[in-house]
Amino acid sequence: MLTTQKILLLPGDGIGTEIMEQAKLILQWFAHNKKLQFDLEEGLIGGAAIDKTGVPLPKATIQKAKEAGIVLMGSVGGPKWDDVDFNIRPEAGLLEIRKSMGLFANLRPAIVFDELADASTLKKDIVSGLDIMFVRELTGGIYFGEPSGIEELPDGTKKGVNTLVYTTNEITRIAELAFELARKRKQKVCSIDKANVLIATRLWREEVIKAQKKYPEIELSHMYVDNAAMQLVRNPKQFDVIVTTNMFGDILSDCAAMLTGSLGMLPSASLGEKDNVTGMRMALYEPVHGSAPDIAGKGIANPLAMILSLAMMLRYSFDLEQEADMIENAVKNVLADGLRTADIMQTDKKQVTTSEMGHAIIKKLEGM
Ligand code: IPM
Ligand code: MG
Repeated sequence: MLTTQKILLLPGDGIGTEIMEQAKLILQWFAHNKKLQFDLEEGLIGGAAIDKTGVPLPKATIQKAKEAGIVLMGSVGGPKWDDVDFNIRPEAGLLEIRKSMGLFANLRPAIVFDELADASTLKKDIVSGLDIMFVRELTGGIYFGEPSGIEELPDGTKKGVNTLVYTTNEITRIAELAFELARKRKQKVCSIDKANVLIATRLWREEVIKAQKKYPEIELSHMYVDNAAMQLVRNPKQFDVIVTTNMFGDILSDCAAMLTGSLGMLPSASLGEKDNVTGMRMALYEPVHGSAPDIAGKGIANPLAMILSLAMMLRYSFDLEQEADMIENAVKNVLADGLRTADIMQTDKKQVTTSEMGHAIIKKLEGM
């Protein structure tokens, strides 16, 4: 990496700020020890932004995000903002930044570390060795379809509406990205829809089938979402790459997260389209878990999903494969040493705080 890489840090709310501290320490470690150059900026999003500016995604944040092109985010939301207007709730900030950066593809790898195979609520032989890549469409579907809203009916009752919309282009680009990823994996893609009921996902299936023609080496299968939910807990190892709509991906990826032992272990990358000139994609990296208000401020949150999100950033945005491997191996090694935050605590293991976990990772990096 020759040039200075700009990164916008958005800690957000709840445990977001605590886990971001650990990610920062690791970035600084790489800057000192591996001569990488990062230009770190910070910005506001979510409830923290509402408190300071009145909106969950201030214009300044959007501008900084587009300038940097690369964002590392913590988490947004919390009970403090339960009563704010729906349009300016903390989560709206997250949806808006995804949309305004054009981050249509959300990659959520669900990998079971051997050391944590016992922490899953499923039997060890069902989950050990699990490695699924979820590819969730992120800027379309029922999350963004219009019309949406609540309207009053003549009889004084109300009607709530959301609309599920997908176009050929939206489906094709996410399908192609899933096929590309599968090329580097086990060459298998399962597309998940509800084509027996939702006509928009009938189109989804048709377009995915068309898109696959360019990737004859990839084995494509289809599954209805209800069956997929069942298969994920029955026999998750049948999956390699899963491609699905925004809402189905939201739900199923939480389910897959638990296969890995804890939601506190799952990183994610949200990618935009390749820039024709630079070949770069805008990207935002964030843990799959939320702001966990119940444990915020206690210093006990698991920073590993955040740290693994950072590894995804080094891999996908900066081509720093070796450094990404270092972080992932450091995570494996601290787990092998028996260090656990509260969410993944098992008997006979050593419970550590957020910052103890972060420092343990740095120690491992130092030893590499
Ligand atoms: C996620 C979250 C978000 C989503 C919320 C916080 C808007 O659940 O990233 O999975 O639904 O996409
Ligand atoms: Mg979710």
